[in-house]
Amino acid sequence: MLPFWPDLIRPMLEDLEPHGIVEIGSESGRTTRLLLELARARGTRVHAIDPKPAFDVAAWQAEFGDTFVFHRLPSLIGLHAVDAMGAVLIDGDHNWYTVFHELKLVETRCAELGVLPPLILLHDVVWPYGRRDLYYDPDSVPAQFRQPFARKGISPVQSGLLDQGGFNASMCNAAHEGGSRNGVLTAVEDYLAQTHWRFRLVVVPAVFGLAILLPDALAANKPALAQRVAAWDVPEIRKFIERMEMARIAMLTGARG
Ligand SMILES: C[S@@+](CC[C@H](N)C(=O)[O-])C[C@H]1O[C@@H](n2cnc3c(N)ncnc32)[C@H](O)[C@@H]1O
Repeated sequence: MLPFWPDLIRPMLEDLEPHGIVEIGSESGRTTRLLLELARARGTRVHAIDPKPAFDVAAWQAEFGDTFVFHRLPSLIGLHAVDAMGAVLIDGDHNWYTVFHELKLVETRCAELGVLPPLILLHDVVWPYGRRDLYYDPDSVPAQFRQPFARKGISPVQSGLLDQGGFNASMCNAAHEGGSRNGVLTAVEDYLAQTHWRFRLVVVPAVFGLAILLPDALAANKPALAQRVAAWDVPEIRKFIERMEMARIAMLTGARG
C-alpha cells in the first residue's frame, strides 16, 4: 500500500481524524510504521493484524507503546479483538472468502462497538488479484469457497496459469481468472450487494489497485474527505491510470497482448 501513502492514504486519514486505525496484513511493516507515526502524533492507536509479520513486533511495541496493538493472528480471528476502527486498511490474504468475511466482520464489530462504519481501503483490486484468488494459507479457506489453485505464475493476457515463469509463481494462485467468488474486487462487489451500509466505491487502478470504500454516513460528517475521494472518481482519469498500469504490468511481466 506504500505507493498510495503520500497522495491518498495519509491525506484521507488526516481529513478523517480516525479513532483507531486497523491494518490487516503488515508484512515488513512499511505502511504500519507510517500509520504508527501518524497515530502517535494524533493520539490514536493502530491495531495491526498479521499471522506472520516480517519485522520485530516486540521492538516496535517498545518504541510505540500504547499506540501499537499487534494481533499475531489471521484477520478473521484478530478482528474480534479490535476495540476501535475509524479506518481499516485491508491487505492480507487476497482471496474472495477472506476479504468478503473481513468486510462482514468489520460491520459486525462496528455494530458491537456502537460506532459508525469506517473508511475502508483495500489493496489488490485490479490485476492480478482483483478477479483471481491468492491463498497464503489455502487450508484456512473452506473447500467450497476455494478455487482450484497451483503454485504457478500468472500472465496478464491469459486466464489459466503458466507452466513456466509468470508473475508470483511461488504463490498459491487460482487456476483461472474471473467467475463467481474469485478475487478481491469480486469480494468487495459481493459485500456491497448485500450490506445495509451505503458506500461510495472508488477504484484507483494504479500499482495493483486501491479501492476506497467511503460510507455515506462518514461522507456527510467529513466533507473534506468526501471531496478528496470524489476527486479520484473521474472516469477519464481512471481510464488513463488503468492504461498506465497495464503498460507497467506488460513491462513487469514481459507479456504481449
Ligand atoms: C502484501 S503483504 C502486506 C503488505 C503491507 N500492507 C504493505 O503495505 O507493505 C500481505 C501480508 O498479509 C499477511 N496475511 C496473510 N494472510 C493473512 C490473514 N488471513 N490475515 C492477516 N494477514 C494475513 C501476510 O503474512 C503478509 O504479511
